[in-house]
Amino acid sequence: MKKLPKSFYSWTTISGVVLASVSFLIILFLILISTIFPRGVSQYLGLFTYIILPVFLIIGLLLIPIGTWRKFKRDKKRQVQRELKFPKVDLNDPGQRMIVFIFLLGSAAIVLFTALGSYEAFHYTESNKFCGTLCHKVMSPEYTTYHQSAHAKVACVECHVGSGAGWYIKSKLSGLHQVYAVLTNTYPIPIATPVYSLRPARETCEECHWPEKFYNRELISKRYYLSDEKNTEWDITMLMKTGPAHKALGLMSGIHWHVNPEVKIEYVSANFKRDTIALVKYTNLKTGKVFTYRDTANVYTNTQIDTLEHRVMDCIDCHNRPSHDFKSPIRFFDEAMSAGKIPKNLPDVKMEAMDILYNNSFPTPDSANRFIRSKFTDYYQSMYPEIYDSSKALIDKAIEGVQTAYKQNIFPEMKAQWSSHLNYVGHLETNGCFRCHNNSFVDEEGDVISRDCNLCHEIIRQGIPGKMETTNIKSSLEFKHPVDIGGEWKNLACVTCHKNLF
Ligand code: HEC
Ligand code: HEC
Ligand code: HEC
Ligand code: HEC
Ligand code: HEC
Ligand code: HEC
Repeated sequence: MKKLPKSFYSWTTISGVVLASVSFLIILFLILISTIFPRGVSQYLGLFTYIILPVFLIIGLLLIPIGTWRKFKRDKKRQVQRELKFPKVDLNDPGQRMIVFIFLLGSAAIVLFTALGSYEAFHYTESNKFCGTLCHKVMSPEYTTYHQSAHAKVACVECHVGSGAGWYIKSKLSGLHQVYAVLTNTYPIPIATPVYSLRPARETCEECHWPEKFYNRELISKRYYLSDEKNTEWDITMLMKTGPAHKALGLMSGIHWHVNPEVKIEYVSANFKRDTIALVKYTNLKTGKVFTYRDTANVYTNTQIDTLEHRVMDCIDCHNRPSHDFKSPIRFFDEAMSAGKIPKNLPDVKMEAMDILYNNSFPTPDSANRFIRSKFTDYYQSMYPEIYDSSKALIDKAIEGVQTAYKQNIFPEMKAQWSSHLNYVGHLETNGCFRCHNNSFVDEEGDVISRDCNLCHEIIRQGIPGKMETTNIKSSLEFKHPVDIGGEWKNLACVTCHKNLF
């Protein structure tokens, strides 16, 4: 009966055969299912089909030669095949012919399936679904904000991996570590940011946005609502000096001057978050001249400077939230009201929402939802009983608007929100540009990194609709603070008040 050589009959080999065949059959079955029901299956299926089961398949396949070899050695010790150093292959023996046949067929099948499998595994692990939803709870903050960003159609890997084999392998290795962290529940909460291992932005962002391309200045309009009884609207339109006044001047001036190929800006950050800067160095690569700006408000010694992180400025030192912008309650409320999702004619609604969102923290989105509903209901019931009785729909709409905006921007379970994931474009709620542009960094020649209000933008229109102050595009207005703060905005960094307005 025994057609195969004796050394094949070992428990190790047989378990290998069983393990490999069972894994293989399940893989085939799963592929079949996901072909028949492409939409109905969960993303976990891919994890099993292309990663977990193939590992068992390979273990099974490895067990076969290991078992055979061990059995052969054992038999040899028992003097069954004493005279031989290696197993003898004799194709005239039907048993041996069979094993060579199985071996060749098996190898061919493995090579074929490995090729197909690694192709599928590659696509699967590069997909947004894999990156964004597999470890659902962990990635949900980044995945949700990503879908609200201008980059919602740019794959995660375009920024996080980029092209080239080196970074591909690096990312898979760090990915392996991350999968392990998720499986063992040892990932950090919140996920550490900034990402120190991120590929230099110039290599990824510039695949799509090369510096020569963004010359035009851009007109941006902002709409705010004050937290007074009438939710007074306040609009500001300003011309952002992204590039110089004329395209032909290239990157000679304007905001994107920092990424001019002839300019190198380096900085030393005083902390992990990079929100406090200790020293700035500007090298003119054309002339070789170096300017070192030191902070005159907080003096750091050279020894202190040497121990801190030194970094060359690139895109993400300003655009650090291009795809995961966690908006503060002030901002997401204003946007929701501007979009009509929260009714403007409900008195005190902004004030009440700000009170709820800034003065409480919630362990889960559900508890936030319940609290928002009960606080709003109580407030209008006691303060505006006539509105509560006649316009309940208005209050419901406000509640739902605030709940939805909350869910899209605050992720209590991962502790991810505006105050942990700072956005450095601007200077209102984080120091952003004012980390350097604060008039206190001075170089050897006494020049400062300026915080002149017209350096980066010019205000064209501002005020309450109907009573707007306007100018034409050739001149600009002096900033008028929406509420009277006695001119304090001229002396204080905006963030001193705006970090904690409520
Ligand atoms: C337009 C480029 C871009 C895309 C697309 C993108 N990211 Fe990011 N992501 C970034 C940058 C830049 C940072 C780091 C910011 C920093 O270091 O301050 C980041 C940070 C992260 C972090 C670290 C935590 C944090 O918020 O800083 C996670 C996790 C993350 N991204 C996941 C994803 C996932 C998942 C996707 C796809 C669904 C994705 N990213 C798509 C640019 C991108
Ligand atoms: C695969 C292409 C691609 C990559 C890579 C990419 N972007 Fe974009 N980016 C886009 C597209 C498409 C848009 C939307 C259209 C537009 O505004 O030009 C956009 C828009 C933007 C905007 C305007 C955002 C807005 O809200 O209007 C900024 C800023 C930006 N990208 C920065 C970055 C930064 C920083 C990186 C690198 C971390 C990056 N992009 C990587 C394709 C890309
Ligand atoms: C790491 C420090 C640093 C940060 C952060 C920074 N800058 Fe600068 N910026 C500089 C330095 C240094 C100069 C050159 C100062 C000079 O020559 O007067 C400069 C110059 C400028 C200029 C004038 C360029 C020209 O010559 O026309 C503009 C505009 C500007 N920055 C805008 C911004 C904006 C907007 C931000 C925030 C999104 C920002 N900067 C953040 C360091 C910084
Ligand atoms: C000094 C800070 C700073 C740096 C460095 C910087 N940007 Fe910007 N960028 C801005 C600001 C400010 C705007 C104006 C729009 C806004 O407020 O979002 C802008 C606008 C943009 C826009 C959208 C508008 C347009 O003109 O197309 C893109 C895309 C962009 N930047 C990409 C990049 C890329 C890619 C890099 C790196 C090569 C980079 N930026 C480096 C501050 C910066
Ligand atoms: C170094 C560049 C720079 C300087 C100096 C600067 N700003 Fe800005 N400002 C910005 C950028 C960048 C934004 C963000 C634009 C955006 O959100 O797209 C901004 C936004 C604003 C806004 C809108 C607020 C918001 O974030 O919604 C106001 C108002 C404003 N600046 C006023 C001022 C005033 C007043 C001064 C002078 C004290 C000043 N800025 C100096 C770069 C600068
Ligand atoms: C002394 C504290 C203080 C300083 C400094 C300050 N603000 Fe304000 N700001 C306020 C208060 C208070 C409000 C009213 C908030 C409300 O009614 O919702 C406000 C509201 C605003 C608003 C209306 C929208 C909103 O966010 O509610 C803008 C825009 C604004 N400030 C810009 C600035 C800028 C730009 C600077 C820095 C150049 C600055 N502020 C500095 C206290 C300050």
